[in-house]
Amino acid sequence: MICIAIDGPSGSGKSTVAKALAKKLNFLFLDTGALYRTVAYYFKVKNVNFSLSSEVEKALDEISIKILSSDKGQRILLSGKDITSEIRNEEISVISSKIAAIPKVREHLLKMQRAIARKNNIIMDGRDIGTAVVPNAEVKIFLTASPELRAKRRYLQLNDESIRMEKVLEDLIIRDEKDSTRKICPLRRAEDAILFDSSEFTLEETIDNLLKIIKERIKTLNE
Ligand code: DC
Repeated sequence: MICIAIDGPSGSGKSTVAKALAKKLNFLFLDTGALYRTVAYYFKVKNVNFSLSSEVEKALDEISIKILSSDKGQRILLSGKDITSEIRNEEISVISSKIAAIPKVREHLLKMQRAIARKNNIIMDGRDIGTAVVPNAEVKIFLTASPELRAKRRYLQLNDESIRMEKVLEDLIIRDEKDSTRKICPLRRAEDAILFDSSEFTLEETIDNLLKIIKERIKTLNE
């Protein structure tokens, strides 16, 4: 099985790029951020006090997450209910960044991610795929862009007039800091990851460039 790990900060376009690459390569696509978002959503709905490890453990024992691949892309089921769109808002972004720093949460999701990666040719995007989840991934890419550009992309994606662009940038900088400085599995580029800054490229150019890089790499592996 081949694993392509795409890590990077929020708003770098990882998921869009990874999804497009998976389609072109006929690989499974796994957006691991959606798993953290699902846990955040569950903790919010169930009012879990995540500063108490007993509550966290109990919630993780009870949570039932299923990932489906459909024509519409990856769908996430929480206890059988499709919550794919419910997890895409700023409130869940903020909570997910907080719960992502809890070791028990990471352990739980790590097992789940590894089990999926073992069975499929897969492109996974996240923060720690190349460093912790699949450190022996055949191809590792670290995708980034300037904070201003990432905030602008996020802002357009949110399509919510009540939110100011400056606030999105502010939140993004806080989240970058949180994701990169947490003790457990912080966001960082694996030493053997290819760094790609998409600031100067269109989405299509980024996808084309990365596709070339991945094909080259897979070809070398097969030689
Ligand atoms: O990629 P995203 O914005 O949907 O991720 C949501 C949060 O989950 C983000 O704050 C960081 C966290 N996350 C993580 O810690 N590790 C991953 N592999 C993926 C996401």
